[in-house]
Amino acid sequence: MSKIVLITGASGLIGKALMKSLLDQGYFVHTLTTQKPKTHPKPNVKEFYWNPIGNEIDLQSLEGVESIVNLAGAPIAQRWTKAAKNRITNSRVKSLEVLAHNIKTHNFPIKHLISASAIGIYANSITHYYEEKDAQFSSNSYLSSVVHRWEAAVRSFDMENLKVSILRIGIVLDAKKGALPKMMFPIRNYMGAVLGNGDQWQSWIHIEDLVALISHVLKLRIEGVFNAVAPNPVQQSEMTTAIGCVLKKPIVFPNVSESLLKLMLGEMSAIVLESQRVCAKKIQQTGFKFKFHEISAALKSLV
Ligand SMILES: NC(=O)c1ccc[n+]([C@@H]2O[C@H](COP(=O)([O-])OP(=O)(O)OC[C@H]3O[C@@H](n4cnc5c(N)ncnc54)[C@H](OP(=O)(O)O)[C@@H]3O)[C@@H](O)[C@H]2O)c1
Repeated sequence: MSKIVLITGASGLIGKALMKSLLDQGYFVHTLTTQKPKTHPKPNVKEFYWNPIGNEIDLQSLEGVESIVNLAGAPIAQRWTKAAKNRITNSRVKSLEVLAHNIKTHNFPIKHLISASAIGIYANSITHYYEEKDAQFSSNSYLSSVVHRWEAAVRSFDMENLKVSILRIGIVLDAKKGALPKMMFPIRNYMGAVLGNGDQWQSWIHIEDLVALISHVLKLRIEGVFNAVAPNPVQQSEMTTAIGCVLKKPIVFPNVSESLLKLMLGEMSAIVLESQRVCAKKIQQTGFKFKFHEISAALKSLV
């Protein structure tokens, strides 16, 4: 019988692409969704409802499952009001807690959990080149504290015979969803400009590579924490120039100052102003081969 993988957050940018790839590889997929499950999902897919905040989960979603890929979480790119911050944190922490509690209580023989995390765990730094062991560097940023709590919640999966992998994902580049369309919009409309002083590092990954990387960790059941970023992060000024180049649009406006970005986006400006130069070596040492190493090739394939 084919293996069953449970994906949470499967309707999102990463989840959709991963589900397609896993189905193509012959897996059966269960999904846990906070939406009303579709009555006629795709072949080899079963959808189940959950509401992690309310401790609700359809236990049938865990039946026969070997591996879980946890991608659930309320969007980070929303104005960081107090309520939004609670939603962002709680959706991630509670999702893991509800899964762990029910797996333990009902003795589901799950063998592997792969949980999404983010490079926002690393402190804002222009100079540091972050490896996985560097997450203990303290930071006052909200993003870093969320990701620390998110990863701490993974500890509730302290079960015998269950392997745990944490993927610290960088900026996922996809043509239609996520950060890239938002970065392309002003540039496409001749309004492109470098954000802040442009020195901040942006560690990115092509969606195709991220899906392949998750499949690699799943197939080999590799335990541990891994950065999920391409081998060559770029500074914001290079990212903007590279997008302009691929779109064949000049970048004529002066930089958008840090103070204006803070005024426009509030605390959320951290998403575009914080700098994390992150190293991909550890996942490469497991035998994973990236298809997109350089930003220009990644952008050309997407635009
Ligand atoms: N995209 C990136 O650049 C990036 C970078 C680093 C880390 N990550 C992390 O990787 C994960 C997947 O990213 P993504 O880009 O695919 O995100 P996404 O497109 O926003 O999808 C996340 C999914 O989570 C579920 N969700 C939303 N609100 C929820 C809530 N309150 N409680 C439980 N589930 C909720 C939704 O699925 P249902 O509607 O089906 O429930 C949604 O489709 C996220 O946790 C994200 O923070 C993403």
